[in-house]
Amino acid sequence: MTKETLHFLSYLSILNEPIFVDGTLGLAGHSISLVVEKKESKIKVIGIDKDATALKIAEKKIKEAGLVENFVLVHDDFHNINDILDNLSVKKIDGMLLDLGVSSMQLDDKSRGFSFSNPEIALDMRMDQSQSKSAFTVVNTYNQKRLEDVLKNGEEWHFRKIAAAIVSSRKTGPIVTVGDLLKVINAATSKKYSKTHPGTDTFRALRLEVNDEISRLAKTINHIVQILAPGGRLAIITFHSLEDRIVKNIFKQLADPCTCPAQLPKCICGKTPKVKVLTKKPITPSSDEIKINPRSRSAKLRVIEKL
Ligand SMILES: C[S@@+](CC[C@H](N)C(=O)[O-])C[C@H]1O[C@@H](n2cnc3c(N)ncnc32)[C@H](O)[C@@H]1O
Repeated sequence: MTKETLHFLSYLSILNEPIFVDGTLGLAGHSISLVVEKKESKIKVIGIDKDATALKIAEKKIKEAGLVENFVLVHDDFHNINDILDNLSVKKIDGMLLDLGVSSMQLDDKSRGFSFSNPEIALDMRMDQSQSKSAFTVVNTYNQKRLEDVLKNGEEWHFRKIAAAIVSSRKTGPIVTVGDLLKVINAATSKKYSKTHPGTDTFRALRLEVNDEISRLAKTINHIVQILAPGGRLAIITFHSLEDRIVKNIFKQLADPCTCPAQLPKCICGKTPKVKVLTKKPITPSSDEIKINPRSRSAKLRVIEKL
């Protein structure tokens, strides 16, 4: 949704050398387009990604586009945004983008274990390959209750059966590959007959746990709003209803934090709006984009502006 996202970021072109943070740089597609389209305003992009491989490819693309001067690349987690900006002596930012989830590069790289279409691959799913927690760790070391929680939080509705089956299977040896786990899921559920791949929900739940994708999101959005300059915008693209719900609710709270009873004629709680929501309904990709890139079909873009 590059076109739609850039539309909401077009205000950057009236600023002089605005500071823009791309918290999920990936292969820098969005940020390169933004800098090129708004060339006259000399946007400075702080590009963050926790995947060192993605950053290397992004660096090459930025060089090829002749935009090295516009970018600072940071190998880190965007949840550490305050420390990242402190290290760069940046106090306020003019805009930020979070394009959540995994990239096509990560999904297509068989060795990363994000996709269940490669049964022989080791369970991994780490975006940051320097971290120790992988899908193998979660599946083979979490106790049954913790596994149930992980699966339930990731909206795997067969969480009890699958957690029990994983723990039982571990008695005969570790669950090592994608295929090993799929066998356990298939044996534990009747998902063979469901429309989606039987591994979809469990794999998503594991990915969210391995990469800690959900738990800190609401808190981080609050931090980002504090460091946005007035008029600055935060755009977030999600690919799953779980994340979208969090984004929608926190945006709503930030825009309307008043806790006074509805019958009071005037607010007395003193909680004033911090942002304006610019997308009353989420923006979704056009049918043309879905045709070209079917993976974009569940994408949703929401944008707020700091007051
Ligand atoms: C959907 S892709 C972004 C694609 C990017 N917008 C582009 O145009 O190429 C998501 C990227 O964000 C990274 N990522 C996801 N969560 C992250 C986090 N908490 N901190 C830093 N990077 C993260 C992933 O490693 C991945 O490269």
